[in-house]
Amino acid sequence: MIDCISFFGLGKLGLPLAALFARSELRTLAIDIDRELVARLRAGQVPYPEPGLDDLLAEAEPRITYASEARGAFGTDASIILVPTPSDAGHPEFSSRHIEQACRDLCAALKARTEWRYHLIVISSTVFPGTVATRIAPLLEQLLGRRAGRDFGIAYVPDFVALGDVVRGFQEPQFLLIGSDDEESHAQAAALFRRIVAPGTPIQHLSIRDAELAKVAANVFLCTKISFGNFLAQLADRLGGADLDSIASALALDPRIGGGFLRAGSPYGGTCLPRDVDAFVALARSVDLDAPLASAVRDVNKAQYDLIERHLLAGNPRCVAVLGLSFKPGTSVTIGSPAFELVRRLAQRSVRVAVYDPAADARESAHAAFGDAITCHESITACVAAADAVLVCNSDPAFRGLAAKVAPDRRIIDPWGCVLGTHPGLVRIGRDQALAASLLASRRRKPSLRAVR
Ligand SMILES: NC(=O)c1ccc[n+]([C@@H]2O[C@H](COP(=O)([O-])OP(=O)(O)OC[C@H]3O[C@@H](n4cnc5c(N)ncnc54)[C@H](O)[C@@H]3O)[C@@H](O)[C@H]2O)c1
Repeated sequence: MIDCISFFGLGKLGLPLAALFARSELRTLAIDIDRELVARLRAGQVPYPEPGLDDLLAEAEPRITYASEARGAFGTDASIILVPTPSDAGHPEFSSRHIEQACRDLCAALKARTEWRYHLIVISSTVFPGTVATRIAPLLEQLLGRRAGRDFGIAYVPDFVALGDVVRGFQEPQFLLIGSDDEESHAQAAALFRRIVAPGTPIQHLSIRDAELAKVAANVFLCTKISFGNFLAQLADRLGGADLDSIASALALDPRIGGGFLRAGSPYGGTCLPRDVDAFVALARSVDLDAPLASAVRDVNKAQYDLIERHLLAGNPRCVAVLGLSFKPGTSVTIGSPAFELVRRLAQRSVRVAVYDPAADARESAHAAFGDAITCHESITACVAAADAVLVCNSDPAFRGLAAKVAPDRRIIDPWGCVLGTHPGLVRIGRDQALAASLLASRRRKPSLRAVR
């Protein structure tokens, strides 16, 4: 019976998840090595803009204790570890060093017990497939001097939530994936997470290794759908335009395909998707296998950057306004943001760049990354005022009314097709129906081209 947990890592995912457990009446020791973060949490501050997080933290308050070290974990029944697993281009395999450190801190606390009792350890960070068996389980057994699956339990419970939707996402997941290699660990992990997910949420029980693989594979599949939608835009751009959104809606009617992530827009980005594709390719290579599908997904993603850049530079702009710096609407996170890559490309060509994002954090990150190469604005109107071309980088609903805000002799490059109404300089990438109509007319005049669909 789990009454009290320790939770390691109070980041963008960990803090909401720890608070959900506390709100479910579990006493929760919430630990982060970042002392400043812990001080802010103790002072009642909400460190990240995430919908619903302020109310959740207030509701969790009676049962949650914040700490910057793990000593108090010795009295808890279970621990959840949700710390970073960094990777980079040179090392696409996620590092487990922060998980290992959290394990060391936890085990030092558990060793202080006078009498041993079963403890469940849940790894929730995204790990490189095979990590728990090769690194984490042996480390825990060595540190505790006890056997996994008998004296303590290990479960791998990865997260399928999206920033900007974390609080709802943890409570209403499509399914709960629990990786464990013994029945007791599975039963305890399932009972623990049942406390916070909606009744009826399906639970899929896999081995730890299979759950590790499933987590990464899920994101690679999502990227495959995004790249497919973006490739349709690349194709339509060459064909002279197509009604991409209606095509996506039609395909979505087939349940074998489904509509999610089929919409053409920016390249995929953010904290997880690009690195998960890289890790998947690296995993295949580690067993002497090419991953041509995942590699093609990356190629199409790069081609989408090239396509957007080509449209942007078509009018030889001296100044471009980039709207939407975060990698998607509703979050201020700019890690892996397509906007940053496009700003970098523009700056390399000595094009002046004005940027706008509704989140002050996102604007600050852009300023930290690009300094004087960009000018940050706090309103759309101010941002587009001096620009020859405007780029819509994410599908924030605030950009729908852009046609009325941009002078008619300027260009609006809209990969998402989200700008409403008409504007003489509007380029809805791949969706330009005027071009499509004229192409169709010319095909009718030239029978030999009819085969081109
Ligand atoms: N961000 C996402 O959208 C997302 C989605 C699914 C999965 N994930 C995975 O979740 C994990 C965490 O991601 P995040 O975005 O919450 O990270 P984050 O960087 O926002 O937060 C991680 C926190 O862990 C703390 N930390 C590091 N080492 C620690 C230790 N030894 N003990 C206690 N605290 C420690 C850090 O100080 C930081 O506050 C990663 O593996 C990531 O791949 C993230």
